[in-house]
Amino acid sequence: MSTTRFLTGITTTGTPHLGNFVGSIRPSVAASLTPGVQSFYFLADYHALIKCEDPARIQRSTLEIAASWLAAGLDPERVTFYRQSDIPETTELTWLLTCVTGKGLLNRAHAYKAAQDKNVAAGRDPDDGVTAGLFMYPVLMGADILIFNAHKVPVGRDQIQHIEMARDMAASFNHLYGEHFTLPEAAIDEHVATLPGLDGRKMSKSYDNTIALFSSREQLRKLIGGILTDSRAPGEPKEVEGSALFQIYQAFATPDETEALRQQYAEGIAWSDAKQLLFERIDREVAPMRERYEDLMAHPGKIEQTLLAGAERARQIATPFVRKLRLAVGLRSLAQASATPKAAKAIRAALPSFKQYRDTDGQFYFKFVAADGRLLLQSTGFAAPKDAGQAIARLQQQGESALAALAGQLAPVEGVMPQEVAAALQQLAEAASA
Ligand code: TRP
Repeated sequence: MSTTRFLTGITTTGTPHLGNFVGSIRPSVAASLTPGVQSFYFLADYHALIKCEDPARIQRSTLEIAASWLAAGLDPERVTFYRQSDIPETTELTWLLTCVTGKGLLNRAHAYKAAQDKNVAAGRDPDDGVTAGLFMYPVLMGADILIFNAHKVPVGRDQIQHIEMARDMAASFNHLYGEHFTLPEAAIDEHVATLPGLDGRKMSKSYDNTIALFSSREQLRKLIGGILTDSRAPGEPKEVEGSALFQIYQAFATPDETEALRQQYAEGIAWSDAKQLLFERIDREVAPMRERYEDLMAHPGKIEQTLLAGAERARQIATPFVRKLRLAVGLRSLAQASATPKAAKAIRAALPSFKQYRDTDGQFYFKFVAADGRLLLQSTGFAAPKDAGQAIARLQQQGESALAALAGQLAPVEGVMPQEVAAALQQLAEAASA
């Protein structure tokens, strides 16, 4: 079975709340246990710097988020779990991607545009208070994803545009320098609930309506007591529709338990009793994790070790990969360059090649032949040598994807499999960028 690489990052600016648990931590931990999946989860602390200038908060949040994931059952043996800033290759790749990313693409990023719109609405300069970090946010995120050639990126809907941008960057780089990157896709889980907060709006730090995942039992009871309800008295039937309390309960309870509460709503359960029920249900789920969380928080050195071990594993992939990318773009040792002409010739001799010629009918043709001389592609006649040359250039630059576009100018060659042609084109592209 081929493995699918999942990768996701969590910006380290806050304290995990129940919404993060239901929307991200719980499904991601579950997904990491699926066979055939290789997971990369990381603490996006470089990204945190864009939003937060409080060093103590960055450190604290990194610790709390790491402890939360581990307490929730993330197995660092199974998941490559690391801190973004422990992978300096990410920042190096950020630059390589920056150089193939259109500024216009970044101009269209939602977060950047929203910041500009806010300024314009307030009569300020559009870029007032906008850092280059905010502008570059999607490139850093692209580097996070592409450095491990992730296939799937589980994110919320607000992040889909970023994944599309990462695809664009990957495609531009591949087009210029050969096939180095997998094109990533967003993985949106339709079943994951968005949790309402204390006031009924989406639970979010920006609305200040959250319930911390690892509040103490007493704090949790108090916070749940503060969930907004309507003014219906005990005994009066209650609506589940639009009830934040009911929705939060549903995110933790089994379908049977949820049905039972629905019934109790209809029968007029008192809000105080419903809150008690919700409290006990959440606490039942959280209590064992809370114990692990407190133990981890009491031993930050252990978490540090876990993250460093994760980074070491991650860098076993990232370091050689960036080395290869540096070569691809031309950041190369000069000593090798002066020593290579002979070697390069030898390699070229063992590569497939294009041969252009003029036939007796006066037209211009080309052939693509394997290293052993076998014919792989045969063109039809072109009126001018320039046209044949352009078709060759297209095959060299775009590889396999050019085959379909040029189908009309290629005569079939018996017994040659399309995969064989594609592989030969790929081999040429790699040699050109090595
Ligand atoms: N931007 C993401 C968020 O705010 C966090 C993040 C950073 C991320 N790098 C990533 C998510 C790479 C997925 C993949 O939620």
